[in-house]
Amino acid sequence: MFLKNIKKIFFFFLLSTLCFTHTIPKPTRHKVGLLIVATGRYIEFVEPLVKSAEKHFLPGHDVTYFVFTNRELPNLECNIVKIEQKRLGWPYDTMMRYEMYYNAKDHFEDIDYLYACDADMLFVDTVGNEILGDRVATKHPGFIGKRGTYETKRKTSMAYVNSNEGKYYFAGGFNGGKTVQFLNLCKTVTENIYKDLEKKIIAIWHDESHINRYYIDNPPTIMLTPSYCYPEQWKLPYHKRLLALDKNHQAMRK
Ligand code: GAL
Ligand code: GAL
Ligand code: MN
Repeated sequence: MFLKNIKKIFFFFLLSTLCFTHTIPKPTRHKVGLLIVATGRYIEFVEPLVKSAEKHFLPGHDVTYFVFTNRELPNLECNIVKIEQKRLGWPYDTMMRYEMYYNAKDHFEDIDYLYACDADMLFVDTVGNEILGDRVATKHPGFIGKRGTYETKRKTSMAYVNSNEGKYYFAGGFNGGKTVQFLNLCKTVTENIYKDLEKKIIAIWHDESHINRYYIDNPPTIMLTPSYCYPEQWKLPYHKRLLALDKNHQAMRK
């Protein structure tokens, strides 16, 4: 009888000490900004994109959406900030995105991490803590195991990549990292794009060419698979997390 009770007490004691020493630490909540350029008709993508991000993008963190647009924002129950941005026309609407982000840096003073995605994308499964890092880039779905379409023609371009450089090719659709790191990228890429423009050069894939040059010089600390820039209609051996939607490019650029 006594022995039985002693056993009970012992197990109770063991269990409670285990519980105390193994309390699960509260996960850190980070302040995160998601940057979206949606001038002109691209505003149509914002509502579905933000709604999908509310479900799947860094759950457990405090996300603010920064939308660069000349249109009215949709009414959404989330932290969403409009940053006035006029249309620049193709290809400047995409190419000057890093300048837009950099110029908005005062908005990011208390933000820990910044990510940027194309407006015409949709989150379909969790994009979680695995993306938290200093410099985060996504491998382009079209060039896995192949050489990407770097700027290789014009040596005077700041995006120029020599044939003995460049191992991975990254997509322009999704990247980010720690705020300071991402703003460094924005600053360098913007300066380089302006240097090119002075020489009347527009790199082959615009901003994408410039970030690829940047990531050769400053390698990503996290390289995401094409799960994070998965073309809607393609069949790839990756799990779909962030879709790049099909759109009628010609019509959207009007
Ligand atoms: C597109 C890009 C969109 C948006 C647009 C300009 O090329 O995919 O995300 O930046 O340019 O509004
Ligand atoms: C295409 C994509 C472009 C650009 C290009 C690079 O598949 O639509 O945005 O990334 O690849 O070669
Ligand atoms: Mn796109």
